[in-house]
This record gives sequence, structure tokens and C-alpha cells, in this order.
Amino acid sequence: MVTCYDYWSACIIGETGVDAVLVGDSAAMVMHGHATTINADVEMMAFHLAAVRRGLADKLLIADFPFLAHKRGVEFAMGAVDRFMKLGANAVKIEGAGTTAQLIRHITESGVPVMGHVGLTPQSVHALGGFTLQGSNEKAAQRILDEARQLEDAGCFSIVLEKVPAELARRVTDSLSIPTIGIGAGAHTSGQILVLHDMLGFTKNFKPKFLRKYLDGFQLVNDALSKFDSDVKSRMFPSEAESY
Ligand code: KIV
Repeated sequence: MVTCYDYWSACIIGETGVDAVLVGDSAAMVMHGHATTINADVEMMAFHLAAVRRGLADKLLIADFPFLAHKRGVEFAMGAVDRFMKLGANAVKIEGAGTTAQLIRHITESGVPVMGHVGLTPQSVHALGGFTLQGSNEKAAQRILDEARQLEDAGCFSIVLEKVPAELARRVTDSLSIPTIGIGAGAHTSGQILVLHDMLGFTKNFKPKFLRKYLDGFQLVNDALSKFDSDVKSRMFPSEAESY
């Protein structure tokens, strides 16, 4: 899986073998320049979701529940679910377990597939003390295992495991019958997800250990723009063939 936030990259992803796409609340950081995902809201997610769906005809598309959207009561949450599904999402993703699992049960029993998300849950960045590795001692690992089981029990069709030790991700994956999708969780999850702009090298200074950059997108785009700029200034563009 990869994340996606706009029409043109959705068109490209649509022609690859990537199985599913997440319109992540990471949009707040990647597309809008915020320091955390806390600035994402239902409006922002709906805006990006609609654009992605227009470019992505037939892949599984999952819409992320933004900050507090699942903590404002069932009515608010179901309003967001309704909006996202009518915009073409096939499922929603919700961070956390515990009391959130009750809401997830209600959503899945309403016929809407839900993807869970445990480990590092970025919407809780301030409570967690940063974007740090989670589940690194046995007590914390056990809590994540329990949360994953709760989410499976609540009807989740899959669970994202973010920034946990590879061995814990293996234990969680082995103990569930639904697939796990890892990010910074090692090789033993059922699948992997990366933020599109990170794996394409557009987030220049973001270099966590778990990230593999498949393109130096920042430099490639910078080179293209610089070439355009110099071609215009040296009157090499447009040529006669590019003129009417
Ligand atoms: O918002 C997001 O991009 C995510 C993925 C990192 C799983 O939640």
C-alpha cells in the first residue's frame, strides 16, 4: 500500500500493482506543511479523498479518520463515515483501540469496513512524547497485542502496525487472522505501507531508519524546474516547433 492525496498521483498508482491506497491524515504534514497530523480534519480528508477517487477507478481506497473525529460521539463519527463512503472510499481507518473499539464495532456492524491502527498512533504524538518506537518493553508489547486482538474482535478487516519492533509485529501478525500492514514494523507483517512522498524522495530531510527511498524525487523535480528556468531565460524555450 501507499498513501495518496491527489488526482495525478492516483492516476499513476492506478497503473501499478499496488494493492490498496490510503488517503492518510499525513496529508496535513505532506501536503499542507504542518508538523503533525493534528491539523487534519474531516473537510481536509474529504477534499483529498474526492480527488484521489477521481484518479483511482478500481483499487481499494481507504480514508483516514482525522484527529478526534472518532472521539466526538457516534453521530459525528457516523457523519464522517457517511461522507467518506459517499465520496468513494471503500473503507475507513481509525487510530487506537480501547473505547475506540466500541465505535469501530458499531461502524463495522453498519456494513463499513474498518482498518485499525496501533503502535505509534501519530494523532497521539503529544501523549506518546514524540514519533517514537512503541512496544519496546514486554508490558507495552503486551498492550499492543491486546489492542490488536480487540480490533480484530471489533470487526476490523486489517490493522496498521506503526513503528514497533519487528519481533512484536511478527507476534501480532501470528496471533491474528486478519492481515497486518506495517510501517516501520519490520518484515513480518502481511503487507507494507509507505507515505508516497517519503518513498519517492520528496520529503528531503525525512530519513528515518525504516524508510527506503525509491526515487530522489526532490532532486529530479528541482533539476527539471531549473532546466525550464534556464531554457526560458536563455530563450531556448519555446522553440519554433513549440510555437503556433
Ligand atoms: O496517515 C498516514 O499516512 C498513515 C500511514 C502512515 C499508515 O496513517
